[in-house]
Amino acid sequence: MSDVLLKDEHKMIQQTAREFAQKEVALYAAECDREAKFPKSGIQKCAELGFMGIAVPEQYGGSGLDYFSYVLVLEEIAAVCASTAVIVSVNNSLVCTPLKTFGNEWQKKTFLTPLARGEKLGCFCLSEPNAGSDAGNQQTIALKKGDEYILSGTKNFITNGPQADTAIVFAVTDKSNPKKRISAFIVDMHSQGVEVGKVEKKMGIKGSGCSQIIFNDVKVSKENLLGEEGEGFKVALHTLDGGRIGIGTQAVGIARGAFEAARNYAKERIQFGKPISEFQAIQWILADMATTIDAARLLVYRATELEDRGLRYTKEAAMAKLFASETAMKVTTNAIQVYGGYGYSKEYPVERFFRDAKITEIYEGTSEVQRMVIAGQILR
Ligand code: CAA
Repeated sequence: MSDVLLKDEHKMIQQTAREFAQKEVALYAAECDREAKFPKSGIQKCAELGFMGIAVPEQYGGSGLDYFSYVLVLEEIAAVCASTAVIVSVNNSLVCTPLKTFGNEWQKKTFLTPLARGEKLGCFCLSEPNAGSDAGNQQTIALKKGDEYILSGTKNFITNGPQADTAIVFAVTDKSNPKKRISAFIVDMHSQGVEVGKVEKKMGIKGSGCSQIIFNDVKVSKENLLGEEGEGFKVALHTLDGGRIGIGTQAVGIARGAFEAARNYAKERIQFGKPISEFQAIQWILADMATTIDAARLLVYRATELEDRGLRYTKEAAMAKLFASETAMKVTTNAIQVYGGYGYSKEYPVERFFRDAKITEIYEGTSEVQRMVIAGQILR
């Protein structure tokens, strides 16, 4: 959808996010990648702008906007800095949304409100050493003892893990019941027994923290059970539907950032006596980039519209994430090609976009998992 088709309120939030991204995020994006440095001031500014809980009602500290507004904001940020985008995305999609959807009033007031205001940061602890794509194979245990659960186990590749204050943690509460094995918990990351394990050194999105989180007999009150006991896997998969919209958006943003850089470079770079944008070989690359980015964005918008209407969108979110992440990979590869040798250099932003794009084909469900989800839905 072209920007002119957006409603006025959406144009306004998009413009606010664009100005923030281009004036402030752009100043630190390369450095936060180079130094693998968490963009603390950028996230602080996101909190001030209301970007940490965009679709959370104002009574719980959020901006009270729709999911579409969240998508518009996230694309602007991702087009400049994919690290900042994923930090914002995890807090919004994977932490605020399940608290909003499954939390009771006390949980929303206590946990959702500071997260949506950006006073605290959240993470989503699902993946484990032996539960990646097979997320149902959880080994973390939550043993009920009186009014508490005792959590023990290791979570892997936790985005925001080193910085988070609050986690949504999935753990086995009933080994004997295959349909209701897993429950979801809200865990204070400053509780005794919570340990930040190995911090990953990553190929891209280097500014976002990612680590193991180890739960060493962590006491969690029964008040912190999110949703019903035994319903945790459904909470996880439902949450990931919304999360996949976020990652699809991040991919669209990365692709757009790379495309805009390549287009501008092609207009300036003179070879054989004229700008390379005048060669058909380059024009066709740019035309394909623009077309696939728009197609990916429209898939993201369709899934978002379903979310905003309160309808199920499992298939649509999987399609959007699959297509957008593969588009980001192709577009960033071709952006380097347009730049030629300069594209391979760290002096220009396209090699960063290329490294950042790869993760979108992996986290919140690999492309293979998205195809499994889509196939499962179309063959029902
Ligand atoms: N919403 C609600 N419920 C759902 C659902 C959804 N979208 N999808 C499935 N369910 C329900 C099913 O109906 C089923 O319920 P019943 O048992 O009552 O029938 C139950 O959940 C189990 O569903 P499946 O049988 O389909 O489960 P499965 O074990 O075969 O798993 C899978 C399917 C699609 C492979 C799933 O495991 C999956 O999505 N794996 C990928 C995990 C993933 O995305 N991890 C990302 C980690 S977080 C992250 O990456 C964050 C980050 O760093 C940024």
